Amino acid sequence: MDGSKNAALPEMAAALMATSPVHLRGLPELSDIDNMVRLLAELGCEVERDGRDLRLIPSADGSCHARYDIVRTMRASICVLGPLLARYGEARVAMPGGCAIGDRPVDLHLRGLEALGATIELDGGDIVAKADRLTGATVFLGGPFGSTVLGTANVMCAATHAEGVTVIESAACEPEIMDLADMLNRMGASITGAGTPRVTIRGRGTLEGCDHRVMPDRIVAGTLAIAAAITNGDVTLEDFPLDHLLAVVDRLQATGVSVQRMDELEPAQRCTVKITSERRLKPVLFTTQPYPGFPTDLQAQMMTLLCFADGNSIVTEKIFPDRFLHVSELTRMGAQVYRQGGTVVVQGVQDLVGAPVMASDLRGSASLVLAGMAAKGTTTVSRIYHLDRGYANLECQLNTLGAEIERFDPDAEAQAQAAPSQAEVC
Ligand code: EPU
Repeated sequence: MDGSKNAALPEMAAALMATSPVHLRGLPELSDIDNMVRLLAELGCEVERDGRDLRLIPSADGSCHARYDIVRTMRASICVLGPLLARYGEARVAMPGGCAIGDRPVDLHLRGLEALGATIELDGGDIVAKADRLTGATVFLGGPFGSTVLGTANVMCAATHAEGVTVIESAACEPEIMDLADMLNRMGASITGAGTPRVTIRGRGTLEGCDHRVMPDRIVAGTLAIAAAITNGDVTLEDFPLDHLLAVVDRLQATGVSVQRMDELEPAQRCTVKITSERRLKPVLFTTQPYPGFPTDLQAQMMTLLCFADGNSIVTEKIFPDRFLHVSELTRMGAQVYRQGGTVVVQGVQDLVGAPVMASDLRGSASLVLAGMAAKGTTTVSRIYHLDRGYANLECQLNTLGAEIERFDPDAEAQAQAAPSQAEVC
């Protein structure tokens, strides 16, 4: 299983705080990782790449300016804010805008850093954070939609350099936060409670380099499990982070998909599972929630699966209530999906039919590829640069499971007038 993008990005940013080289291993080969490499290089961090491994050599006097040109290509650039502030006492990071999945405020990140003593102002579209000295404090990171994952990462990083003890209340409990805390502790930080809503950080001043293997990607794993289910597959997945996907496994089982553990390794974060499924599926209700609830990053893919259930399913999105760009594209393929606010009713159909559809965001594009695999006829998914942000050659992984997916350049294709295949991405 690929290393997790959402763990790797804040971990790469955290490397900026180290006084010696950081080795990160098992990174996925994704455009978002390339973008973060570009950003770190601009900030003066030397980056050596060896396949899926990175050696990051931060500079004692690097730049502290993350420019809009890079931030607008990847919102997750915001996760350099806490590390830059900790390392240099100053950070200037372009304010990220919204994105296709809705408003993406960063007020909680800023409130958390202010609680540690930083002054924050906006200047020419940049967030400018300054602190001669950070001081430990109790920081509450709960917002209207739960906690914030990257906000927790930013405050946790900054707090490693603060004088005294910081307690983050209502911290994000996502496994990616546990993996980051694990890495920071290897760098010499003192963090306890990561993975629970209360994280305690004892400030240590400087951090050293470390060697860290990035955790497996639970969202890629969940997407592959749903791909197996949607094609009535009989698929064995290795390195499967079962412990991190219990809410998803619960809903898959409720629809009638079997997820069988094939080993007894503990903890079950890299185990082998067998996914089997029979048509017809049962309809289910699910609501996206912060971890350990059902992840918003698998909502679109699960919705596609439920298009094939016998009856009405109800999907409620509680993290990003507008994250439904895939709904109208699924409708183009014959899905009966009705949205009202943050809820979608999915009325199962016998078949979806292939159609040209357009990806508008990362996880939505994965859901369209899954729909194309299960649909009758040919589906062409365009704008798949969204897909490449979070899945490394998804079509190759799915083809090894028996799919027929071809990647092509539409201009070259038009010239060659090649015959279409079953599902295509361009
Ligand atoms: N929120 C606020 N104020 C803030 C920050 C967040 O109100 O200051 C709200 C958001 O608008 C949202 C909720 O809190 O309603 C959760 O947002 P969060 O900050 O947790 O999102 P994030 O940290 O920016 C990460 C992942 C997303 C994933 C979310 C939720 C990375 C790089 N990104 O984003 O991943 O959907 O957590 O789990 O880790 C993806 O991979 O496709 C993706 C979008």
